[in-house]
Amino acid sequence: MNKKELIEKINKIKKQKNAIILAHCYQNIEIDLVADFVGDSLGLSQLAAKTNADKIIFAGVYFMAETAKILNPSKKVYLPNVSGCDMADMINLKQIKEFKSKNPNAPTVCYINSTAAVKSECDICCTSSNAIEVVKSLNSKEVLFIPDKCLASWVEKNLKNIKITAYQGYCPTHYKISTKDILKKKEENPLAVVLSHPECKNEVLELSDFVGSTTQMMEYCKKSNEKEFIIATELGVAQRLQRDFTDKKIIPISKEIFCPSMKENSLEDILFTLENENNEVKVDETIAKKAVNCIEKMLKI
Ligand code: 13P
Ligand code: SF4
Repeated sequence: MNKKELIEKINKIKKQKNAIILAHCYQNIEIDLVADFVGDSLGLSQLAAKTNADKIIFAGVYFMAETAKILNPSKKVYLPNVSGCDMADMINLKQIKEFKSKNPNAPTVCYINSTAAVKSECDICCTSSNAIEVVKSLNSKEVLFIPDKCLASWVEKNLKNIKITAYQGYCPTHYKISTKDILKKKEENPLAVVLSHPECKNEVLELSDFVGSTTQMMEYCKKSNEKEFIIATELGVAQRLQRDFTDKKIIPISKEIFCPSMKENSLEDILFTLENENNEVKVDETIAKKAVNCIEKMLKI
């Protein structure tokens, strides 16, 4: 089957089954050809919360599909490839309980990049686009933050009077980006504006002109009058910007900065899942009931 036939077939089955395809912007760019929505973690969970589709095919990683299932218990959610997020897998139920027991008086904020079981033990969820607002909303002088230590320290810097005790997790993909990489790209492109994701190390964020979620970075680039941008996040964002803004010079921080889990899906995998309904994502009911509060509290902010 050629690409055109593949896309036609996917669209036909999607309609027949009243299915929707949601894709994160770190996915292989060809997925955009069939996706109903491409965005960041916040946009994807907002959309998952209000869809009328009967089935959701999630082109993303496990915690994203789990979040969609928790918000839509009566709908079927599928992951074409069962791939996890390495950061989310750095903390499990036992570890979150231990972490909380050492700091019993502070509320716990969990980054959406965490498993449903871990979310079920937390007070409120956040994404990279709303982490500051979420922490602020707790009106607490001290907050526990899991699992990303980089996002936690960025939030703490932006909210001067709140002490954040962070779990020591991190994103292995963003953690690879160094100040050396930024300085080198800046030297080669002295007029370029540096946009970075808050999962990057603090020293990288300090060299950046703008820090935001993947969608916020894309919006910044769209609205800016500048012409050159260094994109310090997963490669998928720079590729989409290069596709969409041909009048701007988009400089990926490195072709090596990609998330292997996010790159597993192909159009063939999407078609296979639509046809065979494999890899349905299920969440334990007791866990889902607790985790939904944590996610819905965030969506209200
Ligand atoms: P956002 O989609 O919130 O920018 O987060 C990026 C990410 O790493 C998702 O796994
Ligand atoms: Fe997880 Fe990092 Fe991949 Fe995002 S880029 S899914 S945080 S491993």
